[in-house]
Amino acid sequence: MSKPIVFVTRMLPQPALSRLLEAVDAEVWPAELPPDPDTLRLKTAGRDGLLCLLTDRIDDSLMEAAGLQLRVISNCAVGVDNVDLAAATRRGIPVGNTPGILTETTADFAFALLMAAARRVVEADAYVRDGKWHTWGLTTLLGQDVYGATLGIIGFGRIGQAVARRAAGFGMRVLVYSPSTTQEDNTITQTDLHTLLAESDFISLHIPLNKHTHHLIGPDEFSRMKPGTILINTARGPVVDPEALYTALKTGQIARAALDVTAPEPLPADHPLLTLDNLIIAPHIASASQATRGKMAEMAVDNLLAGLAGERLPYCANPAVYH
Ligand code: GLV
Repeated sequence: MSKPIVFVTRMLPQPALSRLLEAVDAEVWPAELPPDPDTLRLKTAGRDGLLCLLTDRIDDSLMEAAGLQLRVISNCAVGVDNVDLAAATRRGIPVGNTPGILTETTADFAFALLMAAARRVVEADAYVRDGKWHTWGLTTLLGQDVYGATLGIIGFGRIGQAVARRAAGFGMRVLVYSPSTTQEDNTITQTDLHTLLAESDFISLHIPLNKHTHHLIGPDEFSRMKPGTILINTARGPVVDPEALYTALKTGQIARAALDVTAPEPLPADHPLLTLDNLIIAPHIASASQATRGKMAEMAVDNLLAGLAGERLPYCANPAVYH
């Protein structure tokens, strides 16, 4: 019997790649940069399955062009805002994602950004390398205390909760605003968005990107924050209005920000945000530990193979497809 044919939009880590290549007839895109939209469309046409990354836009017209034999889309990420889930569901195509396994790794990085921004770690490193360290200074590179501060967490799914557990170790008061209902426990206080914005020393974003959360943090939200506030974004770039963020950082409306995600991605080298020294930016690496990226690839392969076999995906982002 011939093997199913699939397109894989980027090289996967081992051993997931070998397992995939044994089971299917796969074309793997070999380049570091993703295939452009026309190439992606061309390569997906006539395939039984697609394994893609969050950099690939999978819309209705791509699914249309792919053909009726396309029976699974496996996204190697937990976020699925790059895939038109409604269109996939309408077409009966299950979409896989990789929840759970990257929770702790991503929460570690959110906390790393929080600590680095609070204590100006990146500025301090540049200060030493630039030859500015002439003596021990009583007021050199003063930062903000994390211990005992108030952390506002927006979005309280798996990753938001993992960040709250880390905050408990630092004696932080944790405020939570979650658009979906959250179970109150004695380590957090659930509140409305305006109270969280007004009272938090640190604000960390952990909501998915959708039409309700696009530019959730804009000019009005920045105006409600304290001047010392530090904003952390490890969710999705467009949750924050980039122009409003630039203004808030430039005018001192907030103290600092640390971003793992931006709008757009990647951020062009001449982007105004890169002129600010009260901002830390990482290239979307919150889940990038060796172990976690390996597990994500394994899970993406599991989802792909299940879909090709006509079985229910272990992790399906559009379970309505089975109704
Ligand atoms: C990373 O951002 C992911 O969604 O997995």
